Amino acid sequence: MQKSIIVTGGGSGIGKNVCEALANEGYGVLVADLRLDAAQQTAQALAAQGHLATACAVDIASQSDCAAMAQAAVAAFGRVDGLVNCAGISKPVDSLVCSADDWQRMIDIQLNGAFFAAQAVGQQLVAQGTGGALVFISSTNAEAAFPRRASYCAAKAGVAMLTKVLAIEWAQHQIRVNAVGPAYVETEMTLRNIAAGNVSREAIEKRIPLGRLCKPGDVADAVSFLLSDKSSFITGQSLYVDGGWLAYGYF
Ligand SMILES: NC(=O)c1ccc[n+]([C@@H]2O[C@H](COP(=O)([O-])OP(=O)(O)OC[C@H]3O[C@@H](n4cnc5c(N)ncnc54)[C@H](O)[C@@H]3O)[C@@H](O)[C@H]2O)c1
Repeated sequence: MQKSIIVTGGGSGIGKNVCEALANEGYGVLVADLRLDAAQQTAQALAAQGHLATACAVDIASQSDCAAMAQAAVAAFGRVDGLVNCAGISKPVDSLVCSADDWQRMIDIQLNGAFFAAQAVGQQLVAQGTGGALVFISSTNAEAAFPRRASYCAAKAGVAMLTKVLAIEWAQHQIRVNAVGPAYVETEMTLRNIAAGNVSREAIEKRIPLGRLCKPGDVADAVSFLLSDKSSFITGQSLYVDGGWLAYGYF
């Protein structure tokens, strides 16, 4: 039977690329995004290539939206085999002036949303009794502190611990839970941060030992591995796809 995966944030960037990679590997893909039009574009492009793909709207910060998302996958494919949580936002702001709303929104989406999406899919996997695999897109910022990104870094560090807790809690159901933490990926999010002057491309390339930005395909390859049986004894791990960023401790 064809396996099916839910990809949140599948309307653009890393999520869109992950949808394409997984569809090419034969998974049925539910493309879920806050922007339904973007999700539909991704799903329609995949369907036009003969892949099994459909779209739904979701705000991962909403527990009921995430439950409906899991049910939409069951309605479309008859079952769910896993989740890739790529939905997210970035909004660098000076900690001295970060508003309560900005702080809350970041935590709601990047941390609470990761939990609600995983919970909804976890419930379905347990009900099916099939096991499965979940992958969170975290960040090198789960480990490395950047200025003006207190809420983002705190949320991503939370996702790294969430990965461990869910992994050990759900191992009895043969559900594996891992995270992929990229460094700067060449997506709209990064290009917006470069355009806004939050970071320069040259500085990123200089700081990464492999000398280039991460490509969305680099992330998709790691996700694909962590969903596959090739990683069947790996759970609770964060795999950093960072060109050596975190290893680098010299000048
Ligand atoms: N781009 C990078 O350099 C980078 C590096 C490390 C980690 N990440 C993480 O990877 C993930 C994806 O980033 P990206 O670069 O692809 O960003 P992106 O902006 O290109 O795509 C994010 C997608 O998430 C969707 N989204 C936003 N809020 C949502 C919500 N509440 N519910 C559902 N969908 C929502 C957006 O509509 C968009 O389609 C994020 O969690 C981000 O923090 C990105």
